[in-house]
Amino acid sequence: MKKITIAIDGFSSTGKSTLAKQLAKELEYVYVDTGAMYRAVAYFAMKNQFIDADSFNKKALIESLPKIQLEFKYNAVLGFAEMYLNGENVEKQIRTIEVSNFVSAVAAVSEVRSKLVEQQQEMGKNKGIVMDGRDIGTVVFPDAELKIFMTASAETRAQRRFDELQQKGDNVTYEEVLKNVVDRDHMDTHREDSPLVIADDAIEIDNSYLNKEEQFAAVLELINDVV
Ligand code: C5P
Repeated sequence: MKKITIAIDGFSSTGKSTLAKQLAKELEYVYVDTGAMYRAVAYFAMKNQFIDADSFNKKALIESLPKIQLEFKYNAVLGFAEMYLNGENVEKQIRTIEVSNFVSAVAAVSEVRSKLVEQQQEMGKNKGIVMDGRDIGTVVFPDAELKIFMTASAETRAQRRFDELQQKGDNVTYEEVLKNVVDRDHMDTHREDSPLVIADDAIEIDNSYLNKEEQFAAVLELINDVV
């Protein structure tokens, strides 16, 4: 069966990564979570005090970009790749609400985007890849054979994210998570460089009322039409 490129874009917490992981496992494709890369850069910026609630020293972050090395390493026990920042596994650190609160500001910096997009294009050059993010079908792989755009109501997404964070023992409120989801959507859709938009040839899936299995089955059918 010919290998294709599958681009999955959409709003925050729409279950993009769940779907992408299911597809990668089924098709034996590589899965790349590009949000993890932006999160790792945001975490780096926080750790180096380039960004906090009151200020963002973009210049210092841009100057430090050559020092940021991002790598995915496959964890056979978990069955997916984890994010490493300069050799350190940062998978846990990048999923906190603090990183979620700063990541969209960091992702709006063009120099950050061009560095990460280049690395993403390199990872996908041999196809056989499922990549999720905000600009995969529009910027990273505009020629992807299959483009999915995922959406769901902000309340549904916030509830799912809140449940996930609670399970991990994160001490957040539902209101905090809802605010983060709404703020990130706003920033991601309104930034100048590569805003989140639906590609003309993307297929939109609203999964407010679809469970994981139904959604997976629907997308597998779409893939069968393409390959
Ligand atoms: O996918 P996730 O919610 O983890 O992404 C975190 C943030 O990273 C997004 O809210 C967005 O600001 C940024 N992002 C992006 N482009 C991508 C992937 C993520 O701007 N391709």
